[in-house]
Amino acid sequence: MKILITGGAGFIGSAFVRLSLAPGSTNSIVNLDKLTYAGNLDNLKSVESHPAYTFVKGDICDASAVEAVFIEHKPDAVIHFAAESHVDRSILSPEPVVATNFMGSFRMLEAAKRHKVGRYIHVSTDEVYGSIDAPYDADESWPLIASSPYSSSKAGSDLLALSYFKTFKMPVIVTRASNNYGPYQFPEKLIPLMISNALEDAQLPIYGDGQQIRDWLYVDDHCRAIQAALALGREGEVYNIGGSRALANLDVVQRILKITGKPESLMVTVKDRPGHDRRYAITSEKIEKECGWQAQMDFEVGLEATVNWYSTNRDWVSRVKSGAYRDYYSQNYSSR
Ligand code: NAD
Ligand code: TYD
Repeated sequence: MKILITGGAGFIGSAFVRLSLAPGSTNSIVNLDKLTYAGNLDNLKSVESHPAYTFVKGDICDASAVEAVFIEHKPDAVIHFAAESHVDRSILSPEPVVATNFMGSFRMLEAAKRHKVGRYIHVSTDEVYGSIDAPYDADESWPLIASSPYSSSKAGSDLLALSYFKTFKMPVIVTRASNNYGPYQFPEKLIPLMISNALEDAQLPIYGDGQQIRDWLYVDDHCRAIQAALALGREGEVYNIGGSRALANLDVVQRILKITGKPESLMVTVKDRPGHDRRYAITSEKIEKECGWQAQMDFEVGLEATVNWYSTNRDWVSRVKSGAYRDYYSQNYSSR
């Protein structure tokens, strides 16, 4: 199957590309990516000369660039990962977030409709459900009560994608995953930021009381779930993908300090994120039952593997942390 992937140079997209081109696979992959600060071709070194892999640099908001990719490559399926994916950046600067996440998704849907693509996976997030009070876990029928420009732009694009199923009978599936972690994640999100700061003996900024709850999903488990939805999911349906490992942020950071052998004195409490969701929690029963998927990675094992990856790939970290990263970091953290 020829699969067009958007955002394949980012954290999850690159894991999906590496997994999809593993020995024995019959897929071919076309990766359309703008290479924003979060897109990095180093993430794809292991597959760059694979005969079934093609990279196209382009912006999903650019209708003619998107059209050209469909004309040239004639994909059987689309997996749409590309997004501005960070909540804090969406608070500092919402415009590119709304443009890529909503209008970029629209451009992709339009092109896929024109070219009668056989399967279309719109990759989304559990953040569209907003904060969920214990003891409830959101299923796919939970109302969308997104809190940040990031999550609301994702919620809007989820609805748009589903409207293409309802209105145009396009074979759309929406997946909503919980917080991912693993190698190659840009060090702006909680786990890679705390690991890379700890390794540099830098401060670990905890927003508010650190008791916010996130459900952690290993990135390869997420990618396998998308493969399962691609193969077995029903068109027009939404599938939650969770890691079944809900932890408070403080607990996660303390575990990182333990694995890295660094002192708890590195943690500092900083001003809370505006609109900060207290708790994310979803049930993945639907994808488990319908597509036979289950998360496999144990959080303790996955976290240790992730710490090991960051400590043996310090050059990758220092490359992505150079230049504009410093501006973002000081802008985001100086206000706290
Ligand atoms: P990421 O920020 O690591 O990567 C995003 C990729 O998209 C980058 O390669 C970037 O260059 C590319 N991109 C951004 N704007 C683009 C544009 N206009 N045109 C073309 N390419 C563009 O993101 P990620 O963490 O890998 O997330 C991938 C998807 O998964 C997103 O849709 C995100 O909403 C969703 N998701 C992420 C998480 C998570 O924990 N990271 C959890 C659930 C869902
Ligand atoms: P993040 O990785 O940004 O993911 P999301 O907000 O999309 O869930 O943040 C995860 C949690 O960690 C969230 O509750 C905010 C918190 N956090 C901190 O406490 N300090 C930080 O420096 C960052 C980046 C996040």
